[in-house]
This record gives sequence, structure tokens and C-alpha cells, in this order.
Amino acid sequence: MSTHTLDLAATQPFLSVLPTRQVFLMCPPTLYDVNYVINPWMAGNVHASSRERAAEQWHHLYQAVSSIADVQLVEPQPGSPDMVFTANAGLERNGIVALSSFFHPERQGEEPHFRSWFQRAGYTVVDTPRSTPFEGEGDALFSTDGSTLFVGEGPRTAHSSHHALTTLWPVQVISLHLIDPRFYHLDTCFAPLTDGSVLYFPEAFSAESRAAIEAFYTPDQRIIVTEEDATRFACNAVNVDRTIILNNITPSLRTQLESRGFHVIEVTLSEFLKAGGAAKCLVMKLSTPAHLQ
Ligand code: ARG
Repeated sequence: MSTHTLDLAATQPFLSVLPTRQVFLMCPPTLYDVNYVINPWMAGNVHASSRERAAEQWHHLYQAVSSIADVQLVEPQPGSPDMVFTANAGLERNGIVALSSFFHPERQGEEPHFRSWFQRAGYTVVDTPRSTPFEGEGDALFSTDGSTLFVGEGPRTAHSSHHALTTLWPVQVISLHLIDPRFYHLDTCFAPLTDGSVLYFPEAFSAESRAAIEAFYTPDQRIIVTEEDATRFACNAVNVDRTIILNNITPSLRTQLESRGFHVIEVTLSEFLKAGGAAKCLVMKLSTPAHLQ
């Protein structure tokens, strides 16, 4: 008599909790350039980046991200050199995308391209009003457990755009006021990590917002980044499970992250720093697109 009878009922719950691979949206840098100045990093760098080096660096990032997640691609469009920074396309959760409403006219031309990509991929797209600028995942990051949404209030995203987000998802919003022009998007200075900790540069925030971060995270959960690492875009980190992908950082921060059990992958992204972005700006986190389910 066989002792290996498959009990289907018993396997069902297991199958339903099998982890799905994280999906990221990226845009190849074939049309990437620094064409204008809309943040301090771009000043002095107009047309100073090498497209060849940028392509090489982006490809390394693509390979690193592909090793831990699935990558979807959106086609670059003429006239939208910053489209490589897909984190700014919008914010997605549960199949709903809050489409960005860019502050600067220079990036507003990206909106219809991202809208049609999301719609074709099967997402429900909700436009955010032009009168309340919102720059997507660049300024809106979920806490590790997904119950809280940290939203930047600064040069790009208006405080008045925050409330509408709570009508799309059942989350509490914590608004964080950005005060240093170099850290103009929340994802340049703040990164909730999968172990429940946060990687951040305190000086980028107003005293009130710093207090809000300290009220949310215990001292042990706060990984404070120095100005040296912050300006290397250390907080602009892609984190999936125990892997963290970021631009080159100091050995001391690397050791700190490794001692917490993270596998750290450094990818040189100097060509993208000239436009004010690094690893996390170059990807947008997505739930599995409807057509792939
Ligand atoms: N040049 C781009 C801009 O200023 C860089 C965007 C960086 N993206 C980000 N998620 N921080 O809009």
C-alpha cells in the first residue's frame, strides 16, 4: 500500500502562500541625457553624461535586479530623457496606479507614455491632479508591513496631494518634510528595509519630520546614513528580501548592512547621479501585472 498518497486539500493552502517574484519596471537609457536643470545635481552636468557609460551601468543594474526579481520594460520616448527614472511614473499597489503629476513641465511629457504602459499591462490608472503635484514612488514609500505610507512634501510633491492616496489604499499617511534641495525626493534620503529597519539621512528632514521618523522606528531600527553616503545616494536602495542593490557606498555602511544580514550589491551609477538619481530611482516596484497572472 502506498504511503505517498497526495493529499490535495492539504497542499492547497501551501500553494496559495507560495511567494511571487517581485516585479520592477525599468526603462532602457537609449535616450537618456541631462538636458535641463530641475535639481541641484543636474547643474553643471547638462550634456555631461556619457550615453555609452550610462548604458553599461544601467545594464549592470538590470542584471542585478533581474537576479532577484522580474523586470518589465517601458520604451524610452524622444523628448523625455528622464524617463529612465521610472520610480517617478506613479505609485502602484494592488493593481491600482496613482499616476504622477510632475511638478516640472520638463517631465510632464512622460505622463501619457507611462499611463498607456500601465493600462496595456492591465493596471487601473488613477490620474492625480496637476494642481497637486505628486511624483510617485520617488516621494511615496510603504512601510515594511504596508500599513503606512511615508510621503515626501518638498520641491516635487505637494502636501495637498497626500490625502487622496488614502482614498486609494487603506493606509495611514505620514508626511515627511524635505528641507535640503539635494534630497528633493523622499527616496533620495529614506528607505524602509525588509527587516523592519529604515536607512535614512536625518539632516534632509525638518525637525518635526525627524521626530515622526523617530516615533515610528526604535533606535535599533534606525540606520543613520552620513552625509558622505547620503550624497552617494546610499538611501536610494533597491531592497528585495535580504538583498540590497545600490550605488557605491563607504565600507563602513556596507559592513553595517551586512552585519544586519543583508547581501549588498554595489553597482556604479555615476552617470545617473549627474541627473540626480541612482538605483532606486531607476526602478518602479509593481505587483504582478494582470496579464501575467
Ligand atoms: N532628473 C530627474 C528629476 O530631477 C531625476 C529623478 C530621480 N528620481 C527619483 N526617484 N529620485 O526628476
